[in-house]
Amino acid sequence: MRFGKLNKCVVVAVVATLTLSVCSALIEDDHEDNGSAGDDLPNVTTSQSAQNISDSESKLDPTVRQRTFTVCYGILFERFDNYSSLLQSVAFNRLMGAEHFFVYNQSVGPKVDALLRHYQQMGLVTVLRWPPFPTDRSWYHSQNAAINDCVYRNRGISKFVVVIDTDEYLIPVRHTSWEELLEAVIHKEAKENQVRRAASFTLRHSFYCYGENDTPHEPEWTWFKNNLTITKEEETFILRNDVLLFQGMFKKELLDAPRRCKTIYRPEFSKQAGIHYPHKMWSNRSRSSVVVDDSIGFVAHLRWFSKKCPQRTSLYRFYRDYLHTLRKYFDDFQLHLLSLQRGRENVRAVNQTYSILSFL
Ligand SMILES: *[C@@H]1O[C@H](CO)[C@@H](O)[C@H](O)[C@H]1NC(C)=O
Ligand SMILES: *[C@@H]1O[C@H](CO)[C@@H](O)[C@H](O)[C@H]1NC(C)=O
Ligand SMILES: *[C@@H]1O[C@H](CO)[C@@H](O)[C@H](O)[C@H]1NC(C)=O
Ligand SMILES: *[C@@H]1O[C@H](CO)[C@@H](O)[C@H](O)[C@H]1NC(C)=O
Ligand SMILES: *[C@@H]1O[C@H](CO)[C@@H](O)[C@H](O)[C@H]1NC(C)=O
Ligand SMILES: *[C@@H]1O[C@H](CO)[C@@H](O)[C@H](O)[C@H]1NC(C)=O
Ligand SMILES: *[C@@H]1O[C@H](CO)[C@@H](O)[C@H](O)[C@H]1NC(C)=O
Ligand SMILES: *[C@@H]1O[C@H](CO)[C@@H](O)[C@H](O)[C@H]1NC(C)=O
Repeated sequence: MRFGKLNKCVVVAVVATLTLSVCSALIEDDHEDNGSAGDDLPNVTTSQSAQNISDSESKLDPTVRQRTFTVCYGILFERFDNYSSLLQSVAFNRLMGAEHFFVYNQSVGPKVDALLRHYQQMGLVTVLRWPPFPTDRSWYHSQNAAINDCVYRNRGISKFVVVIDTDEYLIPVRHTSWEELLEAVIHKEAKENQVRRAASFTLRHSFYCYGENDTPHEPEWTWFKNNLTITKEEETFILRNDVLLFQGMFKKELLDAPRRCKTIYRPEFSKQAGIHYPHKMWSNRSRSSVVVDDSIGFVAHLRWFSKKCPQRTSLYRFYRDYLHTLRKYFDDFQLHLLSLQRGRENVRAVNQTYSILSFL
């Protein structure tokens, strides 16, 4: 199986109302794949006539569209119930600029179900039912079909569509939002590579690792706390709720694209979006697929890693804001659960270090 080709995979309806895509041939699972050696991102060349950058193209101006950033999480399956990782991801992505989220619900556990229903009520999340396709006949629980459904649904609605998992964080290295990150990329590409019209932005991947026994590494943890002036109470919050971004103190080397990379799409230009990178663009649009320089942004994939993970992570400007945002999101969900439990709306007392798990 090589990337860049959807073998006999028929995307049945490619309109905004698309509900289902069917893969007719046996297709290997590419979810955990590295990307095949020698495979490259498709070259979408920029034709001469398209080289004229227009103002509306160069600026990230959402005048017509409903939103700028939408996140597609793909399919939740096997009674996925890690509400904490979902909540952390939503809070982070909101801070970065995400305005709406799509999830495809094949099967979720009670905690994630409660969280999704809460966010549905707030208008933050669209939950779509996803039937249990035979897993040996489609990519990882047919993730590709789901993300393409999501990308097509967002044509003309969202300027950018971010395709990621809940344990992956698109990190702006020098900025505090995805919009600033993309502006920097567009500027750099225009200046250095004469790229005038980018159709997609692919970020390179790096695993982050957290402690062997769920405890943060020392002395890095102390250094981290001092640098961000983390209070004792905040530390308890971070540890109790497994705040991934802060507990992942080490980082593995960046992989070369396309291995495990993740992509921000312009939905109008994507013919077949991939889990990692664009598989096909509309050929009538002269657009470039850009690989983002890792000095501007990359994907932090937070997962437990037993192997050596020697590179210490950097501290980013948005970390403090993220901690504030995250606590608001945890508080909010806790209040929601309390109100459900007690059957009344105005529950005031929230103990921020209290584990949400005890409510469920
Ligand atoms: C992924 O890459 C590693 C290191 O290059 C290699 O050992 C492994 O076999 C690859 N896995 C797949 C599924 O290609
Ligand atoms: C893409 O373009 C680069 C540079 O122009 C070239 O080296 C490479 O072979 C091209 N790749 C494909 C798949 O056409
Ligand atoms: C680029 O834009 C300028 C000014 O809008 C115009 O005069 C020129 O013809 C355009 N060039 C191309 C190749 O479209
Ligand atoms: C859920 O996610 C957290 C990180 O938020 C992680 O520490 C924990 O191990 C996960 N739990 C399960 C059961 O996978
Ligand atoms: C998710 O799907 C399951 C199984 O179909 C269903 O019972 C549950 O209500 C759904 N949850 C949400 C939030 O849509
Ligand atoms: C915190 O870390 C950043 C980045 O490593 C560094 O620039 C800054 O000086 C540090 N601040 C403190 C108070 O240690
Ligand atoms: C590009 O081609 C697709 C499929 O043929 C079509 O739906 C779309 O409208 C075309 N776009 C433009 C700008 O011509
Ligand atoms: C919050 O809950 C924790 C654990 O139950 C408890 O140790 C702590 O004293 C509580 N804090 C407040 C302010 O009630």
